[in-house]
Amino acid sequence: LPLHYLEALTRQEEELKEKLGLKRAIILKGNLEQDEETKTSLGFAVSSLLEEMLTAHTTIAITGGTTMANMVHYMPKSQQHYENLHVLPARGSVGQRVELHANTIAVELANKLGGMYEILTIPDNLSHQSISLIKNEPQIEKLLQKLGKTDMIIFGIGNALKMAKHRKEPQEVLNLLEQKTAVAEAFRHYFNAEGQVVYASEVIGVAPDMAKKIPIRIAVAGGKSKAEAILATRSLLQEGYLIVDEDAATAILNHL
Ligand code: G3H
Repeated sequence: LPLHYLEALTRQEEELKEKLGLKRAIILKGNLEQDEETKTSLGFAVSSLLEEMLTAHTTIAITGGTTMANMVHYMPKSQQHYENLHVLPARGSVGQRVELHANTIAVELANKLGGMYEILTIPDNLSHQSISLIKNEPQIEKLLQKLGKTDMIIFGIGNALKMAKHRKEPQEVLNLLEQKTAVAEAFRHYFNAEGQVVYASEVIGVAPDMAKKIPIRIAVAGGKSKAEAILATRSLLQEGYLIVDEDAATAILNHL
């Protein structure tokens, strides 16, 4: 890449870092929703970021979604084997596409790093009654405790209405989200542009408050349409890492 182009990206990274209060911003050339090259560079970017931070015993939680699925798919297999590293799904399963489930992505990430994984084989949209029963199942309880102590979380940030439909939220919820002008979704919590949670449902797994306490947080999102969602969830990103594409970065900086 021409030097002036790289310098401009680095300047934008610094600006994003300062303005959003991040530990580091990484901007990928191109558009993550459209360009294969950008998806490949996401795989490499996250892999080198992880190599800097992983230890033999790190525990990583990861969410589902297309961004996470692409990221892990394009990640090169690590040279180093982290045999005692654990990857955990942050949440249960959402939707019919198994490729996009946190469980599937956790397995693939563990394989790329030569580590171990655990899975949370429950749907993410359980009723209140089911949640209270299942929470006490020893196997689930153990995984929830591990999630509470995870060293790192890697997560996607979604557009509110798109994710609500994907999550098959009931029509009343869709109406409420529109009425309250929700723009972002993360950990099944829906945020308005001011960053307030306007709707959330009971969860098994990582929720925003829990995510904020995880020492290393890596958020990944791309495409111009994600800029508003990233800004709305900025409280999750404080002192964290943000990997975005050029389109999202430019749109965020235009907003700030
Ligand atoms: O919760 C948000 C999702 O992880 C974002 O999903 O990467 O498919 O847009 P996406």
